Amino acid sequence: MKNLNCLLAFLMVLFFFSSCKKDKIDISYERYTAEDYAVLSQSLNIENDLEDYTFVFPKYYQSRSLSFDSDLATLGRVIFYDKNLSDDRTISCASCHKQELAFADDKAFSDGVSNRVTSRNSLALGSVFNFAEYYGDAASGRIPFFWDNRANTVQEQARQTFANEQEMNMPMHKVLERVNENDYYRVLFKETFGDSDFTEDRVLDAVSEFVNSMSSYRSKYDEELDKHYVATYNLNNIVGVDFAGFTSAENLGKDLYVSNCGNCHGEINGFPAEVKANNGLDMVYEDQGIGEISGSGNNGVFKVPTLRNIALTGPFMHDGRFATLEEVVDHYSNGVQNHPNLSSQLKQGGQAKAFNFTQGEKDALISFLNTFTDEVMLADVKYSDPFK
Ligand code: HEC
Ligand code: HEC
Repeated sequence: MKNLNCLLAFLMVLFFFSSCKKDKIDISYERYTAEDYAVLSQSLNIENDLEDYTFVFPKYYQSRSLSFDSDLATLGRVIFYDKNLSDDRTISCASCHKQELAFADDKAFSDGVSNRVTSRNSLALGSVFNFAEYYGDAASGRIPFFWDNRANTVQEQARQTFANEQEMNMPMHKVLERVNENDYYRVLFKETFGDSDFTEDRVLDAVSEFVNSMSSYRSKYDEELDKHYVATYNLNNIVGVDFAGFTSAENLGKDLYVSNCGNCHGEINGFPAEVKANNGLDMVYEDQGIGEISGSGNNGVFKVPTLRNIALTGPFMHDGRFATLEEVVDHYSNGVQNHPNLSSQLKQGGQAKAFNFTQGEKDALISFLNTFTDEVMLADVKYSDPFK
């Protein structure tokens, strides 16, 4: 009995201190006035002490960090999930870029406004270790946006997406009218910019801050890579070096990937070796990709997508033609077509190359691709739907 009393007293003291501590935290981090927070809380589930969007790179990537403005990213998060910002109020960015699918869609062509569908497969925004570090203006050594690389900034990409008739069908002046309808934007703009002037640039900068903060770097692959980090890291260093945390199939898949796929898709944690390529899907393409913009020398040439979270982002390719990774691996194994623009990486003696993987090798390659899945990102609150 005495022990029980002691325990109770101890618990009470613990409770007392933990509640004091909590009060203190709440006070020091409150961003919004009670009145403003009440306005937000009618529609949104946003903490009063905002999520921290700073991104610290893993050790193998020089442990640098990138900071993102939490107010701006939070505003961007609301815009990203707001269906009111599409013509018929049924579609948001997140309709085609779903968090649980690493911000891809599970349909070959996504549903847009007024029962229209997109003309290409939705690109996964969670396919890179950090969006801002990877994507951007080609002149600054970064990768431009879309399957045909036609946009250079997230702002430009988002403006095109809002206006796209198959996607949201909203020229920017209409987006601003909708923003003006909702009180939560008044509060969020005031917190972010000091006033509630709704401008196109502010809307686009906010979406951009949110998308740029997206980071996938906590997969099984990352964990193992961190353990094998050396200052002179290079993809070839990990060939033939077994990762202790990997199964033997994953280790075999890693070696097959580096030798056969890494030449284009790159290091997974870094840039692809080839920014754009033709990978021999057809002899004649319906959609010419970059060729639609710059002529027949680029017919059938598309962005080389990065493969983080690839197990979640099917169907695959610009037209979603392959439902599974098995079909993708079969394509490379013996389905590559000798298109006039086929990349030299996929040719041998003037012919399309056939890797002729054994079943064991195919399974191993897929096991390895599965190690890119980052469960933490898929459940990270700061990227989640803030609407009630
Ligand atoms: C109706 C579906 C749909 C909606 C809504 C949508 N997207 Fe997309 N998104 C796509 C498709 C499809 C592509 C690929 C299009 C292409 O390459 O031509 C894409 C591509 C992108 C890309 C380029 C990624 C890369 O790897 O190059 C970004 C970034 C993006 N979308 C962000 C957004 C944002 C931000 C919004 C909201 C403002 C949005 N999307 C709304 C379907 C959609
Ligand atoms: C010549 C460069 C090249 C090589 C080598 C290559 N790929 Fe690709 N890969 C591409 C291109 C380009 C695309 C997009 C093509 C398209 O959609 O038209 C692609 C698409 C993919 C996709 C679909 C991505 C998505 O988001 O839809 C997967 C998965 C993939 N490749 C896996 C592999 C594997 C596994 C290997 C090695 C066996 C490999 N690739 C070798 C260039 C290459």
